[in-house]
Amino acid sequence: MKNPRNTIKHIQKAKTLGQPLVCLTAYDVVMARILDEHCDLLLVGDSLGMVLYGMENTLSVSVRMMCDHGAAVVRGSKKALVVVDMPFGSYQQSPQKAFKNAAKILQHSGAGAVKLEGGVEMADTIGFLSSRGIAVMGHVGLTPQSVNTLGGYGYQGKTEEEKQSILEDALAVEASGAFAVVLEGITESLAQTITSRLNIPTIGIGASHKCDGQVLVSQDMLGLSGDHVPKFVKKYAQIDQNIASAVSQFSNDVRQRQFPEDKHCFDIKDAENVSKLYS
Ligand code: KIV
Repeated sequence: MKNPRNTIKHIQKAKTLGQPLVCLTAYDVVMARILDEHCDLLLVGDSLGMVLYGMENTLSVSVRMMCDHGAAVVRGSKKALVVVDMPFGSYQQSPQKAFKNAAKILQHSGAGAVKLEGGVEMADTIGFLSSRGIAVMGHVGLTPQSVNTLGGYGYQGKTEEEKQSILEDALAVEASGAFAVVLEGITESLAQTITSRLNIPTIGIGASHKCDGQVLVSQDMLGLSGDHVPKFVKKYAQIDQNIASAVSQFSNDVRQRQFPEDKHCFDIKDAENVSKLYS
């Protein structure tokens, strides 16, 4: 088979080879098709609740939403390992409930792995899932599903005690069987310590270049999230302006009856020759 899809083995081997891992979020077929060739992993993040649906936080995202968006991303990609976030409330109650929901997400979407937030307190659950055939990516540091107990989206690990606790979270995630871990919103020195202590790859977001790989929300780096992007995001494009300019031209054309032109129309003779309007 040509170019088979990445597996967790590819992802883990990258760390041993010192090859940085590239990960971006994707929520639909269109983005998955464009990103796939360039990414080792595509993350169907529960950030879709805020980015696509305009929710205030990620807490209202459902298993159903993750199943459907996960399936779309799998259909749109060929190469990247697709990882789907387990939404809030779908895994915290018990390992058994987590297994049921993770299995549903993988069966429905065809993705290769799930991601869940939490460290020491989630170790049993990660162990339960990974020992039963579910590839799990961990997520420690700033864990957005805990926004209410964290009191916001600020940097984590400000005191020595907090740093130690995040390190222990990362160690617990690895020891319980996760194949990789997202480090979010932590300082460079802590990211470096964790990355050097773990054998599994660390994928950073707002966690400096001292991680084994990087992930960003695609809409943030493409300039589709408005003006308020976090400090750690580099904007590689300003796609919102391209869209606005194209739509403005279209609306002018329609209002001035300059679209459609003759070449976009067909008469009855053409219609007989054209069996399909859409290829
Ligand atoms: O939901 C998400 O997009 C994420 C990434 C930001 C890591 O968890």
